Amino acid sequence: MSFGGFCKSFIRCQSVNPSLVARQIVFLQDTTHMQYQKFFLLITLSALLMACADQPLRDPVVVSSDPGKTVYETKACNACHSSDGTTLSGPSFLNLFGSQVALADGTTVTADEAYLKESITNPSAKIVKGFPNVMPSYVFSDADFAAFIAYIKTLKAP
Ligand code: HEC
Repeated sequence: MSFGGFCKSFIRCQSVNPSLVARQIVFLQDTTHMQYQKFFLLITLSALLMACADQPLRDPVVVSSDPGKTVYETKACNACHSSDGTTLSGPSFLNLFGSQVALADGTTVTADEAYLKESITNPSAKIVKGFPNVMPSYVFSDADFAAFIAYIKTLKAP
């Protein structure tokens, strides 16, 4: 059947059968309704997405202007070492540089660059008194090490 012919018989059929017309109108309304629902769902979802995109990341990447502080934070030293005197799993870095550190073997060592470097690359070599030997060893580039030393020197209580 041609399209025109189909249309003609469709219209004829509808004019003789009012209940069919009614059903078709309901069907048409229903599909329109569903289309609107989908449309609004889409709008809601995109609004939600846009709102989320506006939020800052929950864990912002640490961006510090101090490269040594960045080393301290990105290598997660701050999980065990505070910079404000608080004792976490490890001793605080506040006032550490140049201080006398009491070790578990009863000796004392000056916290100079060599000691700090050894403490980082070979933490088991000298254990700070009162702390467990749990620190993992790290590989620092010369630049990281220099930055870290410069940073730790700034950690002095006023
Ligand atoms: C899992 C916890 C942990 C992490 C992470 C950690 N440390 Fe330690 N660190 C310790 C503990 C505990 C000690 C004390 C025991 C010892 O001497 O090994 C210590 C000791 C030190 C010391 C000697 C401190 C003192 O008072 O004499 C330095 C320096 C140090 N850590 C640097 C670092 C640096 C730098 C990082 C990051 C690259 C780091 N640590 C990461 C636990 C940790």
